Amino acid sequence: MPVKGEPVLSGGATQHAIEHHYDVGRDFYRLWLDSRMVYSCALWTGDLDDDLDAAQLAKLEWHATGAQVDGAARVLDVGCGWGAMMRYLTDERQVGHVTGLTLSSDQAGAGPSSERAETRLEDWRDHQPPRPYDAIVSIGAFEHFSRPELNKTERRAAYRRFFERCALWLVEGGRLSLQTIAWEDFDPATMEVASFFTQDIFPESSLPQLSDIVDAAEGPFRLVCLRSDGDHYDHTLRLWQQRLEAGKDRACEMVGLAQYRRYHRYLRLSRMMFERRVCTLYRMVFERRPASSLARHDSP
Ligand SMILES: C[S@@+](CC[C@H](N)C(=O)[O-])C[C@H]1O[C@@H](n2cnc3c(N)ncnc32)[C@H](O)[C@@H]1O
Repeated sequence: MPVKGEPVLSGGATQHAIEHHYDVGRDFYRLWLDSRMVYSCALWTGDLDDDLDAAQLAKLEWHATGAQVDGAARVLDVGCGWGAMMRYLTDERQVGHVTGLTLSSDQAGAGPSSERAETRLEDWRDHQPPRPYDAIVSIGAFEHFSRPELNKTERRAAYRRFFERCALWLVEGGRLSLQTIAWEDFDPATMEVASFFTQDIFPESSLPQLSDIVDAAEGPFRLVCLRSDGDHYDHTLRLWQQRLEAGKDRACEMVGLAQYRRYHRYLRLSRMMFERRVCTLYRMVFERRPASSLARHDSP
Protein backbone atom coordinates (compact mmCIF):
# COMPACT_ATOMS: atom_id res chain seq x y z
CA MET A 1 0.00 0.00 0.00
CA PRO A 2 2.21 2.82 -1.23
CA VAL A 3 1.35 6.24 0.17
CA LYS A 4 0.10 8.69 -2.47
CA GLY A 5 3.01 10.69 -3.79
CA GLU A 6 5.64 8.39 -2.26
CA PRO A 7 8.00 6.86 -4.83
CA VAL A 8 7.45 3.12 -5.21
CA LEU A 9 10.71 1.29 -4.64
CA SER A 10 11.45 -1.31 -7.26
CA GLY A 11 12.23 -3.98 -4.68
CA GLY A 12 10.23 -4.90 -1.62
CA ALA A 13 7.91 -3.41 0.96
CA THR A 14 7.95 0.29 1.80
CA GLN A 15 8.16 1.67 5.34
CA HIS A 16 4.42 2.30 5.29
CA ALA A 17 3.69 -1.36 4.49
CA ILE A 18 6.17 -2.60 7.11
CA GLU A 19 4.66 -0.40 9.80
CA HIS A 20 1.19 -1.71 8.96
CA HIS A 21 2.35 -5.02 10.42
CA TYR A 22 5.04 -4.19 12.99
CA ASP A 23 3.72 -0.98 14.54
CA VAL A 24 0.50 -2.27 16.09
CA GLY A 25 2.00 -1.96 19.58
CA ARG A 26 5.10 -3.40 21.22
CA ASP A 27 3.15 -4.62 24.27
CA PHE A 28 0.83 -6.61 22.03
CA TYR A 29 3.77 -8.53 20.55
CA ARG A 30 5.27 -8.90 24.04
CA LEU A 31 2.16 -10.89 25.04
CA TRP A 32 2.90 -13.79 22.71
CA LEU A 33 6.59 -13.65 21.72
CA ASP A 34 9.44 -14.93 23.93
CA SER A 35 11.14 -12.76 26.57
CA ARG A 36 13.71 -11.34 24.08
CA MET A 37 10.93 -10.47 21.62
CA VAL A 38 12.34 -12.45 18.73
CA TYR A 39 9.86 -12.44 15.85
CA SER A 40 11.07 -15.26 13.60
CA CYS A 41 11.22 -19.06 13.61
CA ALA A 42 13.02 -20.57 16.62
CA LEU A 43 15.52 -23.45 16.43
CA TRP A 44 14.26 -26.61 18.13
CA THR A 45 17.31 -28.65 19.03
CA GLY A 46 17.64 -31.64 21.38
CA ASP A 47 15.01 -31.84 24.08
CA LEU A 48 13.87 -28.24 24.38
CA ASP A 49 10.27 -29.42 24.61
CA ASP A 50 8.19 -26.21 24.44
CA ASP A 51 10.80 -23.84 25.90
CA LEU A 52 10.43 -20.93 23.47
CA ASP A 53 13.06 -18.75 25.19
CA ALA A 54 15.67 -21.51 24.87
CA ALA A 55 14.74 -22.27 21.23
CA GLN A 56 15.00 -18.60 20.27
CA LEU A 57 18.38 -18.36 21.96
CA ALA A 58 19.50 -21.49 20.07
CA LYS A 59 18.49 -19.75 16.83
CA LEU A 60 20.49 -16.60 17.67
CA GLU A 61 23.48 -18.82 18.56
CA TRP A 62 23.20 -20.73 15.27
CA HIS A 63 23.28 -17.60 13.13
CA ALA A 64 26.00 -15.92 15.17
CA THR A 65 28.19 -19.02 14.87
CA GLY A 66 27.38 -19.43 11.16
CA ALA A 67 28.36 -15.82 10.48
CA GLN A 68 31.57 -16.34 12.51
CA VAL A 69 30.96 -13.27 14.66
CA ASP A 70 33.29 -14.13 17.54
CA GLY A 71 35.97 -11.47 17.75
CA ALA A 72 34.27 -9.39 15.06
CA ALA A 73 34.68 -5.64 15.32
CA ARG A 74 31.60 -4.74 13.25
CA VAL A 75 28.42 -6.70 12.49
CA LEU A 76 25.30 -5.66 10.57
CA ASP A 77 21.79 -6.99 11.33
CA VAL A 78 19.47 -6.35 8.35
CA GLY A 79 15.90 -6.37 9.69
CA CYS A 80 16.80 -6.19 13.38
CA GLY A 81 13.27 -6.26 14.84
CA TRP A 82 13.23 -5.07 18.44
CA GLY A 83 16.99 -5.65 18.75
CA ALA A 84 17.26 -9.17 20.26
CA MET A 85 20.13 -10.31 18.03
CA MET A 86 21.96 -7.00 18.44
CA ARG A 87 21.88 -7.33 22.24
CA TYR A 88 22.94 -10.97 22.03
CA LEU A 89 25.93 -10.08 19.82
CA THR A 90 27.26 -7.29 22.04
CA ASP A 91 26.40 -8.85 25.41
CA GLU A 92 27.01 -12.55 24.83
CA ARG A 93 29.35 -12.79 21.81
CA GLN A 94 31.59 -9.79 22.55
CA VAL A 95 31.09 -8.18 19.15
CA GLY A 96 32.67 -4.71 19.13
CA HIS A 97 29.87 -2.82 17.40
CA VAL A 98 26.51 -3.80 15.91
CA THR A 99 24.40 -1.82 13.46
CA GLY A 100 20.75 -2.80 13.10
CA LEU A 101 18.41 -1.73 10.29
CA THR A 102 14.62 -1.73 10.50
CA LEU A 103 11.78 -0.05 8.62
CA SER A 104 9.54 0.06 11.70
CA SER A 105 9.54 3.26 13.77
CA ASP A 106 8.43 1.34 16.85
CA GLN A 107 11.31 -1.14 16.52
CA ALA A 108 13.83 1.62 15.86
CA GLY A 109 12.73 3.24 19.13
CA ALA A 110 13.12 -0.04 21.04
CA GLY A 111 16.45 -1.21 19.59
CA PRO A 112 19.71 -0.74 21.52
CA SER A 113 21.54 2.54 21.29
CA SER A 114 24.99 2.88 22.89
CA GLU A 115 28.66 3.21 21.99
CA ARG A 116 28.51 -0.40 20.82
CA ALA A 117 25.12 -0.53 19.11
CA GLU A 118 23.21 1.65 16.67
CA THR A 119 19.63 0.96 15.61
CA ARG A 120 18.74 2.80 12.40
CA LEU A 121 15.33 3.44 10.87
CA GLU A 122 16.71 2.79 7.43
CA ASP A 123 16.04 0.69 4.36
CA TRP A 124 18.95 -1.59 3.48
CA ARG A 125 18.67 -0.17 -0.04
CA ASP A 126 19.82 3.20 1.35
CA HIS A 127 22.50 1.90 3.72
CA GLN A 128 26.02 3.25 3.15
CA PRO A 129 28.36 2.12 5.93
CA PRO A 130 31.56 4.10 6.42
CA ARG A 131 33.63 0.89 6.72
CA PRO A 132 33.07 -2.78 5.78
CA TYR A 133 31.45 -5.24 8.18
CA ASP A 134 33.07 -8.46 9.38
CA ALA A 135 29.74 -10.31 9.30
CA ILE A 136 26.07 -9.80 8.42
CA VAL A 137 22.95 -11.50 9.79
CA SER A 138 19.46 -11.16 8.38
CA ILE A 139 16.69 -13.14 10.04
CA GLY A 140 13.09 -13.08 8.86
CA ALA A 141 13.43 -9.93 6.75
CA PHE A 142 14.09 -11.38 3.27
CA GLU A 143 10.34 -12.15 3.11
CA HIS A 144 9.85 -8.40 2.58
CA PHE A 145 12.44 -7.90 -0.17
CA SER A 146 10.18 -8.52 -3.19
CA ARG A 147 6.57 -7.78 -4.06
CA PRO A 148 3.66 -9.93 -5.25
CA GLU A 149 3.39 -8.14 -8.60
CA LEU A 150 7.02 -8.83 -9.61
CA ASN A 151 7.66 -11.58 -12.16
CA LYS A 152 10.44 -14.12 -11.68
CA THR A 153 13.10 -12.04 -13.44
CA GLU A 154 12.23 -8.89 -11.51
CA ARG A 155 12.03 -10.80 -8.23
CA ARG A 156 15.46 -12.32 -8.75
CA ALA A 157 16.87 -8.93 -9.70
CA ALA A 158 15.55 -7.46 -6.43
CA TYR A 159 17.14 -10.29 -4.42
CA ARG A 160 20.37 -9.99 -6.41
CA ARG A 161 20.60 -6.32 -5.42
CA PHE A 162 20.43 -7.41 -1.78
CA PHE A 163 23.25 -9.95 -2.16
CA GLU A 164 25.37 -7.51 -4.17
CA ARG A 165 24.98 -4.88 -1.47
CA CYS A 166 25.88 -7.36 1.26
CA ALA A 167 28.99 -8.42 -0.69
CA LEU A 168 29.99 -4.80 -1.05
CA TRP A 169 29.58 -4.18 2.68
CA LEU A 170 31.48 -7.31 3.79
CA VAL A 171 35.19 -7.91 4.15
CA GLU A 172 36.57 -10.58 1.83
CA GLY A 173 35.69 -14.01 3.21
CA GLY A 174 33.08 -12.40 5.50
CA ARG A 175 29.86 -14.31 6.07
CA LEU A 176 26.16 -13.59 5.75
CA SER A 177 23.79 -15.75 7.79
CA LEU A 178 20.26 -15.58 6.39
CA GLN A 179 16.91 -16.99 7.49
CA THR A 180 13.76 -16.81 5.40
CA ILE A 181 10.43 -18.47 4.75
CA ALA A 182 10.13 -19.76 1.18
CA TRP A 183 7.58 -21.52 -0.99
CA GLU A 184 8.01 -25.26 -1.04
CA ASP A 185 5.23 -27.37 -2.67
CA PHE A 186 3.67 -24.30 -4.24
CA ASP A 187 4.39 -22.26 -7.34
CA PRO A 188 3.08 -18.70 -6.94
CA ALA A 189 3.22 -18.26 -10.72
CA THR A 190 0.52 -20.89 -11.22
CA MET A 191 -1.73 -20.21 -8.21
CA GLU A 192 -2.90 -17.07 -6.53
CA VAL A 193 -1.50 -16.33 -3.07
CA ALA A 194 -4.30 -15.77 -0.51
CA SER A 195 -5.17 -12.06 -0.50
CA PHE A 196 -5.53 -12.23 3.29
CA PHE A 197 -1.74 -12.50 3.52
CA THR A 198 -0.77 -10.14 0.70
CA GLN A 199 -3.24 -7.39 1.63
CA ASP A 200 -4.11 -7.69 5.33
CA ILE A 201 -1.01 -9.18 6.95
CA PHE A 202 2.13 -8.54 4.90
CA PRO A 203 1.31 -5.95 2.22
CA GLU A 204 3.85 -5.42 -0.58
CA SER A 205 5.72 -8.58 0.40
CA SER A 206 6.10 -11.95 -1.28
CA LEU A 207 8.12 -15.07 -0.64
CA PRO A 208 11.03 -16.50 -2.62
CA GLN A 209 11.57 -20.02 -3.90
CA LEU A 210 14.88 -21.70 -3.07
CA SER A 211 16.05 -21.35 -6.70
CA ASP A 212 15.51 -17.55 -6.51
CA ILE A 213 17.81 -17.26 -3.51
CA VAL A 214 20.51 -19.51 -4.95
CA ASP A 215 20.39 -17.75 -8.33
CA ALA A 216 20.52 -14.29 -6.75
CA ALA A 217 23.44 -15.09 -4.46
CA GLU A 218 25.47 -16.87 -7.15
CA GLY A 219 28.49 -14.78 -8.08
CA PRO A 220 29.27 -12.74 -4.99
CA PHE A 221 28.68 -15.62 -2.55
CA ARG A 222 29.44 -19.27 -1.91
CA LEU A 223 26.65 -21.14 -0.14
CA VAL A 224 28.35 -22.94 2.75
CA CYS A 225 25.36 -24.21 4.75
CA LEU A 226 21.64 -24.82 4.13
CA ARG A 227 18.97 -26.17 6.50
CA SER A 228 15.29 -26.63 5.75
CA ASP A 229 13.36 -26.39 9.02
CA GLY A 230 9.68 -26.03 8.14
CA ASP A 231 8.68 -28.19 11.11
CA HIS A 232 10.48 -25.72 13.42
CA TYR A 233 8.14 -22.95 12.24
CA ASP A 234 5.10 -25.15 12.81
CA HIS A 235 6.33 -25.63 16.41
CA THR A 236 7.06 -21.90 16.91
CA LEU A 237 3.68 -20.84 15.49
CA ARG A 238 1.84 -23.31 17.71
CA LEU A 239 3.39 -21.70 20.79
CA TRP A 240 2.79 -18.14 19.55
CA GLN A 241 -0.86 -19.04 18.90
CA GLN A 242 -1.26 -20.63 22.35
CA ARG A 243 0.27 -17.60 24.05
CA LEU A 244 -1.91 -15.22 22.10
CA GLU A 245 -4.99 -17.25 23.06
CA ALA A 246 -3.93 -17.25 26.72
CA GLY A 247 -3.55 -13.45 26.58
CA LYS A 248 -6.76 -12.84 24.64
CA ASP A 249 -8.36 -10.42 27.14
CA ARG A 250 -5.23 -8.26 27.42
CA ALA A 251 -4.73 -8.39 23.65
CA CYS A 252 -8.30 -7.20 23.03
CA GLU A 253 -7.82 -4.34 25.50
CA MET A 254 -4.69 -3.29 23.62
CA VAL A 255 -5.63 -3.71 19.97
CA GLY A 256 -9.35 -4.60 19.90
CA LEU A 257 -11.16 -7.84 19.07
CA ALA A 258 -10.94 -7.43 15.28
CA GLN A 259 -7.15 -7.10 15.38
CA TYR A 260 -6.86 -10.04 17.80
CA ARG A 261 -8.88 -12.19 15.39
CA ARG A 262 -6.81 -11.08 12.41
CA TYR A 263 -3.55 -12.11 14.15
CA HIS A 264 -5.05 -15.33 15.43
CA ARG A 265 -6.17 -16.26 11.92
CA TYR A 266 -2.76 -15.36 10.48
CA LEU A 267 -0.93 -17.60 13.00
CA ARG A 268 -3.37 -20.47 12.44
CA LEU A 269 -3.21 -20.28 8.63
CA SER A 270 0.57 -19.90 8.64
CA ARG A 271 0.85 -23.04 10.74
CA MET A 272 -1.32 -24.91 8.25
CA MET A 273 0.96 -23.77 5.41
CA PHE A 274 4.01 -25.25 7.13
CA GLU A 275 2.16 -28.44 8.08
CA ARG A 276 1.10 -28.96 4.46
CA ARG A 277 4.58 -28.10 3.15
CA VAL A 278 3.26 -25.16 1.16
CA CYS A 279 6.11 -23.24 2.80
CA THR A 280 9.36 -24.10 4.49
CA LEU A 281 11.98 -22.22 6.49
CA TYR A 282 15.54 -21.92 5.22
CA ARG A 283 18.58 -21.06 7.28
CA MET A 284 21.53 -20.39 5.02
CA VAL A 285 25.11 -19.29 5.50
CA PHE A 286 26.94 -17.57 2.64
CA GLU A 287 30.60 -16.62 2.37
CA ARG A 288 31.79 -13.69 0.30
CA ARG A 289 33.95 -14.83 -2.58
CA PRO A 290 37.31 -13.09 -2.96
CA ALA A 291 37.32 -10.39 -5.64
CA SER A 292 39.77 -12.41 -7.81
CA SER A 293 37.56 -15.51 -7.89
CA LEU A 294 34.53 -13.28 -8.50
CA ALA A 295 36.06 -12.10 -11.77
CA ARG A 296 36.67 -15.72 -12.85
CA HIS A 297 33.16 -16.66 -11.80
CA ASP A 298 31.61 -13.95 -13.96
CA SER A 299 33.48 -14.92 -17.12
CA PRO A 300 31.55 -17.20 -19.56
C1 LIG B 1 9.85 -10.58 11.04
S1 LIG B 1 10.82 -9.19 11.53
C2 LIG B 1 12.28 -10.04 12.08
C3 LIG B 1 13.00 -9.27 13.13
C4 LIG B 1 14.22 -9.91 13.75
N1 LIG B 1 15.24 -10.24 12.79
C5 LIG B 1 13.84 -11.13 14.57
O1 LIG B 1 14.17 -12.24 14.17
O2 LIG B 1 13.21 -10.95 15.61
C6 LIG B 1 11.32 -8.46 9.95
C7 LIG B 1 12.23 -7.25 10.06
O3 LIG B 1 12.69 -6.86 8.76
C8 LIG B 1 12.69 -5.45 8.68
N2 LIG B 1 12.71 -5.04 7.27
C9 LIG B 1 11.88 -5.41 6.28
N3 LIG B 1 12.23 -4.82 5.11
C10 LIG B 1 13.33 -4.06 5.38
C11 LIG B 1 14.18 -3.23 4.59
N4 LIG B 1 13.96 -3.04 3.29
N5 LIG B 1 15.23 -2.61 5.20
C12 LIG B 1 15.46 -2.79 6.54
N6 LIG B 1 14.70 -3.59 7.33
C13 LIG B 1 13.65 -4.21 6.75
C14 LIG B 1 11.45 -5.06 9.47
O4 LIG B 1 11.46 -3.70 9.80
C15 LIG B 1 11.58 -6.01 10.66
O5 LIG B 1 12.47 -5.44 11.59
